[in-house]
Amino acid sequence: MLKLQSMKKILITGGAGFIGSCFVRQTLQKHPDYQVINLDALTYAGNLETLADIEQNPRYRFVQGDIGDKNLVDKLFAEGLDYVINFAAESHVDRSISGPEIFVRTNVLGTQNLLEAVRKYWLPSAAPASLAERKYLQVSTDEVYGSLGQDGYFTEETPLQPNSPYSASKAGADLLVRAYFHTFGLPLLTTRCSNNYGPCQFPEKLLPLMISQALANQPLPVYGDGRNVRDWLHVSDHCAALDLVLHQGTPGEVYNIGGHNEKENIYLVRLVLRELQKPETLIHFVQDRPGHDRRYAIDATKMSRCFGWQPRYTFEQGIQETIQWYIQNQSWVDSVKSGAYQKYSAKGKENYGKL
Ligand code: NAD
Ligand code: DAU
Repeated sequence: MLKLQSMKKILITGGAGFIGSCFVRQTLQKHPDYQVINLDALTYAGNLETLADIEQNPRYRFVQGDIGDKNLVDKLFAEGLDYVINFAAESHVDRSISGPEIFVRTNVLGTQNLLEAVRKYWLPSAAPASLAERKYLQVSTDEVYGSLGQDGYFTEETPLQPNSPYSASKAGADLLVRAYFHTFGLPLLTTRCSNNYGPCQFPEKLLPLMISQALANQPLPVYGDGRNVRDWLHVSDHCAALDLVLHQGTPGEVYNIGGHNEKENIYLVRLVLRELQKPETLIHFVQDRPGHDRRYAIDATKMSRCFGWQPRYTFEQGIQETIQWYIQNQSWVDSVKSGAYQKYSAKGKENYGKL
């Protein structure tokens, strides 16, 4: 086994969240020669319990902190990073409607702070060869493209037309990545993925919320007529795609990621009830989300053309496994809702400021 000092270093921000935690685990498994640093602020959405099984891995370090904290980000970059992948974000559309400010702070200014560090630490000293080996990947979303009518798909050329404060903040970050690539020639990549599902998603998002409500025989709140369409992809398929883009992507490029699993919300909600053998009378149609995008659908042909990427999960298998996971892990759901784990787990937690 390689010594820690000679391993590659990857900074994963937002690694205590839903998708980031999957990527942390996948990276440790897939790249035995990598050291992983997980920088996460542990907002309500970040939970160390999700990563409890890898806390003691010598190739893994957790640093609690904000991507917008210049001193902290500088210290991490000064250690010498080979790869950076930015998952850290405020990610829930409904929260962006009730309180947009934190979305701009984290998603736009936080990203800009990371990009500044890339500029400061990777540009001046880097010989062209070493710069080519370094990569920064911005994990973005299909929501930056806005809403589709009944037909068509989002391609990488679709104009950005974000409709919520969340998607506007993600689009703002995407444009900064674009500008820092064009202006400074930095090795920056962007991906835009459709709706993810899978284990360890905070139970405010559609699927885990509906499962939780149904298990508790509580009403399932369906917005509007329930016929808005989302394009679903298993989180591990998303993470496999991100690994390919990070290692093989061309700087300056955008890559769309999606599963061609377009479903109306009401279809998914009924599927959950059927799987759990609960009655449809639990469905409650409630007031629509303001500015609710009608339909998302991703054209991911660039991913398959460039890297041969294809999702491994079928929708049916992935959803069934996911529902089973939530049934078997209700203590995880209770724990992340209450934030209990954070309070008693100090293991693997590093306060960088004190080092
Ligand atoms: P999440 O809300 O589950 O996790 C976000 C993580 O970021 C949390 O661990 C949180 O503590 C951390 N965080 C928040 N603010 C931070 C800050 N200022 N500094 C450091 N850490 C901070 O989100 P997710 O669903 O895992 O999404 C991850 C990324 O993927 C986001 O950028 C999101 O926009 C994007 N994305 C999500 C989906 C999806 O369906 N969930 C689809 C496409 C793209
Ligand atoms: O498309 C990618 C995006 O998917 C990511 O960028 C976001 O981070 C992620 O949160 C997700 O956004 P959505 O708004 O699509 O996800 P959400 O789970 O909030 O809602 C999915 C659909 O279900 C949407 O049409 C709204 C609807 N919905 C949602 C909730 C929470 C309901 O009908 N009832 C609900 O209670």
